[in-house]
This record gives sequence, C-alpha cells and structure tokens, in this order.
Amino acid sequence: MKIIGTGSALPEKVVYNDMLTGFLDTSDSWITTRTGIQTRHLLSKETLSELAITSASAAIQSSGLQPSDIDYLICSNVANSYVTPSLSSIILSPLGCCCPCTDLNGACAGFLYALDIADAFISTHRAKNILIVAAEEPSRFCNWHERETSVLFGDGAGAVVVTEGNGFVDFRVTADTHTDVLYYKRSLETTPYDRVEEKTMPLVMQGREVFKLAVRACIKDVDTILEKNNLTGDDIDMYLLHQANLRIIDSIREHLGQPKEKFPTNLQKYGNTSSASILILIDELSREGLIPDQSTLLLSAFGGGFVTGAAITKWSKIEYNS
Ligand code: UT7
Repeated sequence: MKIIGTGSALPEKVVYNDMLTGFLDTSDSWITTRTGIQTRHLLSKETLSELAITSASAAIQSSGLQPSDIDYLICSNVANSYVTPSLSSIILSPLGCCCPCTDLNGACAGFLYALDIADAFISTHRAKNILIVAAEEPSRFCNWHERETSVLFGDGAGAVVVTEGNGFVDFRVTADTHTDVLYYKRSLETTPYDRVEEKTMPLVMQGREVFKLAVRACIKDVDTILEKNNLTGDDIDMYLLHQANLRIIDSIREHLGQPKEKFPTNLQKYGNTSSASILILIDELSREGLIPDQSTLLLSAFGGGFVTGAAITKWSKIEYNS
C-alpha cells in the first residue's frame, strides 16, 4: 500500500493563547513553555463534515483518481454531533463516492489504525483505492472553564488516498485499558427499565499520567518497529509524530538521539487535533515539497484507551496542481 493523495482543512477562526486569558487562569508563557502551542483553529462557522469533505476532496484530487474510483471510505473520529449515521456516511455522497464506508474511533491514534485496516483490505484485494479521512472537533468535548484541557486542543481534518503499492513497510498497533486517565462521557436517553441517571462529562484527563504513558508507549512502538525491520533511528529520514505536546515529541527524539530537523511539527499553529494531526502535518509538508521522494518516514501516535499506532513508509512524491 502507498499514499497517493493528501488533503487537509482547518477552521477559519484562529485563537491565540492570549485570547484564552480572558476566561481562563492561564497565560501565553505557561501554554507555550509546557506544550509549544501558540494558536489553534476552532470551529465556529463551519461544520465538521464540511471540513472532512474539503480535506477529502483535496486528497482525491491530488491522487489523480475520481471519487467513483474510491472503493472504501474509512473515517477516523472520536465524537461529533451525530451518533448515527456515521461521519463517513454523512460525507460519502457529497464527495461523489459510492462505496462501503465506516467510522472508527482509535482516539488520537485513529489514523494509524485506519492505515493498518486499509492495508489489510488492500493486501487481500478486498479494495484497491481507499480514502481515509480524520475529522476531529475536540474543542466540543472540552470544558472551557478548565485550563488543564481546553488550552491543548484544536479542530481540523486531514485525508489521504491509499492504493496498491510498495510504500508501507510495516505497522504496529497496540491497545490497553486505561479508562481513568482520559475520557469524555456522553449521557444516553433513559429507559423505563434502566433509570441510572447519566451525565455528560466533558473531557477528563490526568495530563501527567497521559504524558508518561505516551512517551513510554511511543518509544516502545518506535524501538519495536525499527528493530523488527532491521532499521535504526538513523535510517529514518523523518518522524511524523502525533502533535500533542512539543515536550512529548522532544522526549521521544532525545531517546532516539536524532536531530530536531527530522521531527517536523505544526502543533504550534494547530494544537492537538486528535487523529487529524499527523494527516494535517503530512499534507502541509507534502504540498510544500518538504518530503523528499523515496524518503523513509516513521509515523507514531497515541490516544485515549490507551491505544497506539506506528508505521514505516517510503514516500513517493505527490504532484499537486495548484
Ligand atoms: O492526545 C492525547 C491528549 N493528551 C495529552 O497529550 C496530554 C499529555 N500531557 C500533557 O501534555 C501535559 O501533562 C499538560 C500540558 C497537560 C500539563 O503539563 P505538566 O507540565 O504535566 O503540568 P502539570 O499537570 O504537572 O501542572 C503543573 C501546574 C499545576 O499547578 P500547581 O499544582 O503546580 O500549582 C497546574 O494546575 O500547572 C497548572 N496548570 C496550568 N497553569 C496555567 C495546568 N494547566 C494550566 C494552564 N495554565 N493551562
């Protein structure tokens, strides 16, 4: 399997750290030094499905395929206004696609899970061209009176088209139950039989715990996938990591003893856009011509669950007609 098209879309509204100090006991210096984040884009006028469609259309267009050529659509999403139908069903026909579609919730590692599943479909010839879209609006499940969580996230969407080819070398996905460290709970309707009063709980996160789990798990993933493929950190040209916190990325980089230039970031501009973060990064770098042809990329992400995913791929340059 290989990536042949990319796209991304961000909300118009840009929120600077200073703009949060009007209603949160926080500061630009705390947010930048502890996370690296300077601004984030938040949904205001647009809807998440509009962002998903824009990013997916750009990915299809850059792939050189027609929407009718897509034979499977996978949408990675943690939560949106609709519980049903799925986000993938909502965007399918507006995109001009006519194929099976499904959503998956792999939290911030959802893109890596989607790639792993797409590879299984493609290598068994169940599908040839798969569109993967990650569209996330974490701003809608934070408590905006809580400085511990709300400053970290941004909304956005990213997409890739994958097809048969020799790009991906290997995948590693893991899962473990750690419900308490990160959760967002939505209330369900009550029934005459089950009268347990349910309450929606905005995102609850034990930041320090997640930080430690993330660094530990990503290092394990990266070390394992490198070793399994007889590679060392030096063999990787670029590490595209989940954009959650610059200090998490730095800890992984320091463990690997690799230079900063190999770890491009954009969390400074967008915050943590959950499973869309690596996709937005790939799209930006690729469109700017910053991913050399035939370079080796290592992708790695972690998310609530606790789930993680990593992949190694050889990059084939994509031509964009602007
Ligand atoms: O995709 C997965 C999503 N989650 C993550 O990636 C989160 C991973 N964790 C982190 O990124 C970091 O743990 C945080 C950025 C969330 C927090 O950074 P930290 O260096 O671990 O800070 P801390 O939680 O240890 O808190 C240090 C202090 C506390 O005050 P006291 O107890 O020392 O007086 C917090 O109350 O910083 C305080 N604090 C803040 N101060 C200003 C927490 N949030 C803020 C804030 N502004 N926004």
